[in-house]
Amino acid sequence: MTVRVGVVGVGMIGQDHIRRLTRVLSGVDVVAVSDVDIGRARAVAGGLREAAVHATGEQLVADDRVDAVVVCSWGETHEQYVLAAIAAGKPVFCEKPLATTQEACRRILAAETAAGRRLVQVGYMRRYDPAYRALREVVQDGSLGLPLLMHCTHRNPSVPAHYRGESMINDTAVHEIDMVRWMFGEEIAAVSVLRPRPSRHSGDLPDPLVLLLETGSGILVDVEVSANIRYGYDIRGEVVGESGTATLAEPSTVQVRRGGTVIDRVPADWRERFVRAYDVELQEWVDAVGGDGQLGPSAWDGYAATAVSDAGLEALRTGARVPVALADRPAMYEK
Ligand SMILES: NC(=O)c1ccc[n+]([C@@H]2O[C@H](COP(=O)([O-])OP(=O)(O)OC[C@H]3O[C@@H](n4cnc5c(N)ncnc54)[C@H](O)[C@@H]3O)[C@@H](O)[C@H]2O)c1
Repeated sequence: MTVRVGVVGVGMIGQDHIRRLTRVLSGVDVVAVSDVDIGRARAVAGGLREAAVHATGEQLVADDRVDAVVVCSWGETHEQYVLAAIAAGKPVFCEKPLATTQEACRRILAAETAAGRRLVQVGYMRRYDPAYRALREVVQDGSLGLPLLMHCTHRNPSVPAHYRGESMINDTAVHEIDMVRWMFGEEIAAVSVLRPRPSRHSGDLPDPLVLLLETGSGILVDVEVSANIRYGYDIRGEVVGESGTATLAEPSTVQVRRGGTVIDRVPADWRERFVRAYDVELQEWVDAVGGDGQLGPSAWDGYAATAVSDAGLEALRTGARVPVALADRPAMYEK
């Protein structure tokens, strides 16, 4: 079976996903696109075999040729397209965040639980990265003893013009927030945020930041977020257990030792660092939509990540340690 996909929002990641859906993955075709920038939508459709261009995402969702929807528009617009897909009974892969407010996430949870089956997957791709998967296996096999701490680093070489101070948390650190919930299989109970003196490259941003996440069982996770580190896109993680530690291996495929130095590559951006994760993530989604396999991160995961990032934003504003209050988890999302 070929899953016929419509893509809403064909900017940076929308085009990257279309490339993998049409050139890398199997069992899938892109049959429709839509973007508020209609010229961009037409240009992207022009590079595809046969794809309709729709003026709105709602029209794309209603197109009979579209079996499933991929949402890659700006975060504030995700809710309307995810709700439209649920109303049409069509599976929807929504890039992170599921929605930018907890209220919007709860409307999506209500719609999906009323539909009575899972239709939504959220694009938290670290869960598909081979290095993160290997780290999680070590944590879960018990060989380190109980996990006590995790140190995370999330450094961007630079950020786009529309990036705001809040984006440090709800656009960037939100990846660690989801990863930590998945890594340790528990919710995050409280968030604190610390600010060192700002980088001279940071402009108006509170850059860098340190988040301290506390899980329900008391694991402490520190996350450095840097938005303008200049030298590359650098993602690190180390779990400290009672009797050992485990660290994400460096992602490069070759290391050169010469003249008394070690030369290793730092990825240029998220597309390079997580290329394999995105491929696996979307292939597993296509397979699940086609009836072979399970959907990944759920609307509940999307809601929980947004709730924690909201607590982080309050911690950034107030300087206080902010507890996270989650709604009751509907039975549909129990593990
Ligand atoms: N998982 C990841 O690692 C990852 C990486 C990058 C981006 N993202 C997420 O993907 C989304 C898009 O990010 P991007 O970097 O591609 O941004 P972008 O600005 O490059 O592209 C967004 C596109 O959406 C279009 N758009 C905006 N509002 C729209 C609307 N109402 N309807 C239809 N189209 C609309 C814009 O015209 C633009 O073409 C964001 O939610 C972002 O957080 C996720």
